[in-house]
Amino acid sequence: MTEHPQPPSGQTVDSILAAATSHTRAALRTLGELVGNEPTTTLSPTQFAVRQLGVDQRELASTRFTGPSTSLAILGNLMRIEMERHAGRVVIGSPGDDLPPTWSQLDVGPDEKLAVPGRLVAYFPAGTLAAAPLCVTIDDRHWQREFAILSTQADKEAAEKTLEAFRARLKSPENPLRGRVLDACVNDGCVRISASAAISGARSGLILPADIWREVDVFLASATSRRDMLKSLGLGTNRGMLIAGPPGVGKTHLVRVIAAELAGRYTTILADANAMRHTIADLYAESDTFGPTLVVLDDIDLVLGHRDGSGTNTSLADFLSTLDGVHQRDDILTIATTNDPRSLDPAAQRSSRFDMVITLPLPDAATRLRILERHLGPLGLELDLGVLAEALDGATGADVKEVIRRAVLEHGDRFTQAQLVEIAESGRWQATVNRRKYL
Ligand SMILES: Nc1ncnc2c1ncn2[C@@H]1O[C@H](COP(=O)(O)OP(=O)(O)OP(=O)(O)O)[C@@H](O)[C@H]1O
Ligand SMILES: [Mg+2]
Repeated sequence: MTEHPQPPSGQTVDSILAAATSHTRAALRTLGELVGNEPTTTLSPTQFAVRQLGVDQRELASTRFTGPSTSLAILGNLMRIEMERHAGRVVIGSPGDDLPPTWSQLDVGPDEKLAVPGRLVAYFPAGTLAAAPLCVTIDDRHWQREFAILSTQADKEAAEKTLEAFRARLKSPENPLRGRVLDACVNDGCVRISASAAISGARSGLILPADIWREVDVFLASATSRRDMLKSLGLGTNRGMLIAGPPGVGKTHLVRVIAAELAGRYTTILADANAMRHTIADLYAESDTFGPTLVVLDDIDLVLGHRDGSGTNTSLADFLSTLDGVHQRDDILTIATTNDPRSLDPAAQRSSRFDMVITLPLPDAATRLRILERHLGPLGLELDLGVLAEALDGATGADVKEVIRRAVLEHGDRFTQAQLVEIAESGRWQATVNRRKYL
């Protein structure tokens, strides 16, 4: 049996810090700044591990993981959980460079942040993380991004198992972002993921032809009823769907309905234009952290156009190679929306990238009538909505809702058929400038 050195007895500054609450740590930090901001220890993580593990540097083994920033922050959070679990026994050290241990923020809700280790090293004595003593080090600077376990060469296997266990926990309910709705934007050239409010949306609120819903069901089957079958047949469970249609026909609304139906089982990542344009590969790399993931690329045509004459369009090229790579993995759904599929390069539409393209039509009179009934029904007014539905020929779902909104704004909850038809026909519910009147 290997003899494992015991942690230093007596209280060091590091052990006091490890056991302290965040309030105490903040107070100690302020005190430290007042008396000269001396870091508690200036050893590098390697020197720290050599000291704590009681071995020669040549005897030290490092088991590393390099990943995108969110996976690193979630690993940092797991590290924090372990530091708290073994508080009093864990010893914290500096990241080197004469710096004190630093903590970063993990956004886990619109107004909820967790402080997680950013750059530091922690010594876990034998019998805490593993039977062997281990040092865990994290560095979340974007050019570094590393989570590593330092051990003796003899304990390398234990270090590997511990790292594997940490990584498996990324995909467990211990990951506070898993199954949530997340926003992806770009910060400092890197993709930044933060938790967003949950999405609600029921099919009953969106009136679409039955064949569109059937296509949506086929798309969702790879995440639900047919998932296991696809896997066992080696067919893969990734799907991509492109939703096309003119402005205001309910494309974004449909994405919300799908995201709401997958909530809890799938993590939804809503990419903003910059994330789509600059960090699409990182975005999909992050999706690996969350288990089954739905990636939403709304209004993709604004970002990915055609290759120009010289054949260069970096965003498009990145997008194509990223989506091809996604097919190596399982459980990733991609939904993109566009006003005009022809504005997308044909390569982006090739069947292996988007398995399905559905086009939402302008609503016909019967659909317009159902939208009117849905929103005006609760008022219990005596209105002939069929006539109004006919009058709104060519209107989108968004237009129909705007006519109703305008009527409520002008007349409150009591208006007549004539008043409603007058608003629809006047066109003043449209947000267009009346040039003759104003110029
Ligand atoms: N068929 C429909 N049934 C019910 N509501 C609809 C329908 N079509 C559109 N709407 C409503 O119109 C509004 C705009 O829809 P949405 O934002 O989904 O349109 P879009 O197709 O994404 O437009 P854009 O191309 O401008 O992004 C939403 O409030 C949506 O609920
Ligand atoms: Mg939209």
